[in-house]
Amino acid sequence: MSSSDLKVISEHKTDGIFEELKDLQRRFRHLPVPELIKIAKRRELDYRDLYSIASHYPHFHLEPPARVAVKVCDDMSCHLRGAPELKTKLERRFQGVSGHDLSIGTVSCVGRCDHAPCMVINDRYYDGFTPEHAVDAVTTTLSGHPPEESKYRRREIKLKSDPYNGQRSYAALRKYVHSRDWPGLLAMIKAAGLRGMGGAGFPTHHKWQTVSNSRESEKYVICNADESEPGTLKDRFILTQLPHLVIEGMVLAGLCVGARRGYLYIRHEYQEQREILIEELNRCGEENLIGSSILGTDLSFELVIFDSPGGYICGEETALLEVIEGKRAEPRTKPPFLAKVGLWGKPTIVNNVETLAFAAAIAAQGADWFTSHGVKPCKGLKFVGVSGDVEKPGMFEVPMGITYRDLVHEFAGGPLDGRSIIAFAPSGPSSGYLPASMLDLPLDWEKLKDAGSMVGSGAIVVCTEGRCMLDMAFNAVRFYRNESCGKCVPCRIGSQKLVEILQRWIEGEHQPTDVQVVEELSHALRQTSICGLGQILPKPLESVMKYFPEEIEQHLQQRRCSAGTCFKEVRA
Ligand SMILES: Cc1cc2nc3c(=O)[nH]c(=O)nc-3n(C[C@H](O)[C@H](O)[C@H](O)COP(=O)(O)O)c2cc1C
Ligand code: SF4
Ligand code: FES
Repeated sequence: MSSSDLKVISEHKTDGIFEELKDLQRRFRHLPVPELIKIAKRRELDYRDLYSIASHYPHFHLEPPARVAVKVCDDMSCHLRGAPELKTKLERRFQGVSGHDLSIGTVSCVGRCDHAPCMVINDRYYDGFTPEHAVDAVTTTLSGHPPEESKYRRREIKLKSDPYNGQRSYAALRKYVHSRDWPGLLAMIKAAGLRGMGGAGFPTHHKWQTVSNSRESEKYVICNADESEPGTLKDRFILTQLPHLVIEGMVLAGLCVGARRGYLYIRHEYQEQREILIEELNRCGEENLIGSSILGTDLSFELVIFDSPGGYICGEETALLEVIEGKRAEPRTKPPFLAKVGLWGKPTIVNNVETLAFAAAIAAQGADWFTSHGVKPCKGLKFVGVSGDVEKPGMFEVPMGITYRDLVHEFAGGPLDGRSIIAFAPSGPSSGYLPASMLDLPLDWEKLKDAGSMVGSGAIVVCTEGRCMLDMAFNAVRFYRNESCGKCVPCRIGSQKLVEILQRWIEGEHQPTDVQVVEELSHALRQTSICGLGQILPKPLESVMKYFPEEIEQHLQQRRCSAGTCFKEVRA
């Protein structure tokens, strides 16, 4: 790190604040007020400002938690694969245990949707448990012997995206450091048609070109590894299997646009992946591929791993910048766009893990290599996760243009227990649900957009017969309500209002004006929310109202749920 960088960082009173708060929580299991006051004094912060930061993140406890705190994920994939039954079993089995000893609650998607259902006990992660396993795990933790955490299942596979056959030679970085043909690299990324894999599909070369054009001397590159949307699994897989490509992509992006510092922003639940990255970074340091005087030249690029303090909204690119700046994860209004005014007000590239890995693969093998993949007329590769009601939930590297039907049948083992598929979400709650009749749509940015959905981050969630689509809409809207940062009124109030309406529908009550209120609220959310979370929030419900009108009708008019899921107590 150069002395000017050090100066910039030391000027920020909240630098490193989350690590300090995490450390405090590790020592006391919560954040005691006298300790917070000490931190505020030392950092010359107003205590209220520090409190406002700490209270923003659900991961930080302002009160001491129960001796054993159990949280069950009940978002889309876990909901489909037994989370409600698991939670009910725990609540019944441990009824009467004091709140001091045990609490049982919920947690938002923890990024293990392919091994659903998932739960967290005292910050230890468990997946694929039956209700009986869960009872055993809680019992042993209560007795002071927590079971081993579930480990990531690393796979020995050859991936088309890996140009180095596992050798990790960083040949592309070596080539470009010596040639310095940055305009050539930009042209190659453009020719490959690489798009942002974080969900929006924005052309990658465009961002890089804008930052490259800036005359500012200080610029940043950020890899977004926050991955918190239900069903999204791909970044964890890429960070595990291809960490070298993510690092190489970041360094290439930095050198190409003139940035000397990058942050790899990783969700705090991905500790195994963090360790893999640190090991790989150490290797890069030893080989002089990163840091100052890269490969003996005057080029330099520092890469810092930044642990997210947690929350889906932290993955929104402007909220992510606020977090790195040590603030609440509240999105900024755009414009100005980050390529012009980003981290600390400087031009910044934010790219998804997969985008950066593909950028490195393209730099190594050329644009033609990338475009040679794909089912015509689509070009390129994509990593997708398939979860929910399928036989083999998991992560797959597939050609663009493959149909969702082939994806589910050929890669994910087909629908669970041979049941019929009734619906699928092409990309978690953000894409809404499409009916099974649309399974022949190809994995194609434009075709999905025309269908009113999106390829997004490729978080495919499958629902089979016996599922209630109103219940699935409720589940998705509730996720957004839980994850709203609360900065803007439409999203803060609107999400709660939608959840309340849906909860009533599920419990068999509705008012004649409800549908109109839903439509007006949805319009207001789309038009006036500051960020994508609020704008997309109505999507799951709208899609169910559009494609499954008879299910809504049955619920509202006949008080009938053909899946037998509704009309009992539902906890929002
Ligand atoms: C609520 C919300 C959460 C998001 N979470 C992520 C995330 O976890 N990872 C990600 O890459 N992009 C996420 N995005 C999209 C980012 O804002 C941004 O578009 C992306 O990181 C840009 O990278 P790309 O161009 O390579 O896709 C999120 C967007 C919203 C609105
Ligand atoms: S739309 Fe929701 S998540 Fe986004 S800034 Fe507003 S309140 Fe926060
Ligand atoms: S881990 Fe539960 S939905 Fe992702």
